[in-house]
Amino acid sequence: MDKNNKITACVQDIPVQELIRSAMEARKKAYSPYSGYQVGAAVLTNELRIYTGCNIENAAYTPSICAERTAISKAVSEGWHKFKAIAIVGGPKNETTDQYAFPCGVCRQVLREFADPDQFVVIVARNENDYKLYTLGELLPESFGPKNLGF
Ligand code: THU
Repeated sequence: MDKNNKITACVQDIPVQELIRSAMEARKKAYSPYSGYQVGAAVLTNELRIYTGCNIENAAYTPSICAERTAISKAVSEGWHKFKAIAIVGGPKNETTDQYAFPCGVCRQVLREFADPDQFVVIVARNENDYKLYTLGELLPESFGPKNLGF
């Protein structure tokens, strides 16, 4: 199956535009006084629930957390462990998102923990009608995951 067919198959029951809208709303809550960069994310659980998150920075810098991990942490802490997709929007504060904000390496690995890399869809969006689709496996090939530890 080529890339387009594979993504088309994975994205079937995913409300792409609703996820992007949710991520855009979440981005408004970003706490990013240091970088001035605002990110919003929305994850879809296997049960079709949506959890959102924003980036939250810290004066000590290293405790900062990305929007994607905020969203995943909220969902996991509510008991949801399997996910189908994530939408991500990001860009400098107060500007419309005219760039595609890809997830950082740490967030890719955290998504990997709770997703099948061949099925999970990453939606990197500038807005509701302008987005790119990837499987997690494309963004994190040959990944290390729970199976390596026998889980
Ligand atoms: N950021 C995210 O929220 N997600 C990413 O995947 C990349 C970076 C945030 C972290 C920090 O608050 C700001 O963007 C600049 O790096």
